Amino acid sequence: MRFHVTAISASNQLRGDLLTGDLHTGDRIVIATSGQLSQVRNIFSEGETRDSAAGPATLTIELTDMLPLSVGNIIAPADARPEVADQFEAKLNWQGRDELLPGRSYQLVTVNGNTIASISKLKYRLDQASGQHIAANTLQTGESGICNMALTAAIVFDPVAVNPETSKFELLDKRTGATLAKGEIQHGLRRASNVHWQALDVDKLSRAAIKQQTPCVLWLTGLSASGKSTIANLVEKKLVADSKHPYLLDGDNVRHGLNKDLGFTDADRVENIRRVAEMAKLMLDAGLIVIISFISPFKAEREMARSLFAEDEFVEIFIDTSLEVCEQRDPKGLYKKARRGEIKNFTGFDSPYEPPLNPELHIDTESVSAEQAADTIIAHLNAAGK
Ligand code: ADX
Repeated sequence: MRFHVTAISASNQLRGDLLTGDLHTGDRIVIATSGQLSQVRNIFSEGETRDSAAGPATLTIELTDMLPLSVGNIIAPADARPEVADQFEAKLNWQGRDELLPGRSYQLVTVNGNTIASISKLKYRLDQASGQHIAANTLQTGESGICNMALTAAIVFDPVAVNPETSKFELLDKRTGATLAKGEIQHGLRRASNVHWQALDVDKLSRAAIKQQTPCVLWLTGLSASGKSTIANLVEKKLVADSKHPYLLDGDNVRHGLNKDLGFTDADRVENIRRVAEMAKLMLDAGLIVIISFISPFKAEREMARSLFAEDEFVEIFIDTSLEVCEQRDPKGLYKKARRGEIKNFTGFDSPYEPPLNPELHIDTESVSAEQAADTIIAHLNAAGK
């Protein structure tokens, strides 16, 4: 039995949908999200009191206890509870105009709520005609696949084999609300409930205190050859000269190690930035001033990175240099190669760059020198008391 609460009256009568199964007065039930127990006192249907009801049906019920409930809650038998997890395997049918990007955050809507989700692993695509499993890094419009998903908060659900209604979800574009995918949960991932956060005695504050600094993330974004690395390098030198403890993560360098398995497709850039944002979070926790120098072309991933930090910890710095000037500078000869068609997915050519609209700092490198840009960043830190 699964009862989905859609409205709550002042007298604590619960209006909702009996999605599946039977409900009887006296049944012992659980509120799936909170784990609170109660019993069914009354069932009302079409203005009459009933001893029982069978789903699917729209009903009003009363419980024997006044529990703090909210719309969207799922009520289930106390001895047949739905699952609660923040990671699961799902079947997805992708409907977005743009391809699915594993690692990108999407809005997940289920019968009982709303949270943020990303595809942590696309396992395979399902061939429409044969049902065969085909290795894939992405899904295009109309394609289906099996993937692992990770959520920012646990949800209540049933595997599709147990209850299709409570296994269903949709993925929406976080900004526009457009439907991008429909899915059904195959099963929860056991690791979701077996991996717990380990509380440690030494924390971010004490690690920062021995370094006598307030850690933060300086996130430099801009086109290739915009001057990010030069400015980041100067900022790091100035911080060290001031006895601070910075660490510079540079796109080209990180792509030689941790991210050497990644290229320059949209999907790989999303994963590149996801890993770097997580690494910045660890480094900030270590008490460091983290300098990030990555093109980081997509607004969505820069927002995702920002969401990992407190408001005053994240400083987005737009290193603004026009494509024409970057192409004139071309220190690595990459623009020449891109012009000759020798590099695919080159940022500014056949791969997009979405400029920040509200960065904390906007540096126009065509009117200031790298030295002046670095000083502006240091002055911003000093003004913020870092
Ligand atoms: S990001 O887009 O995923 O953030 P990242 O900053 O890690 O990019 O790497 C960009 C660097 O890789 C550039 O500075 C350039 O030296 C090199 N590069 C090689 N191929 C490309 C490409 N197709 N587009 C952009 N940069 C490229």
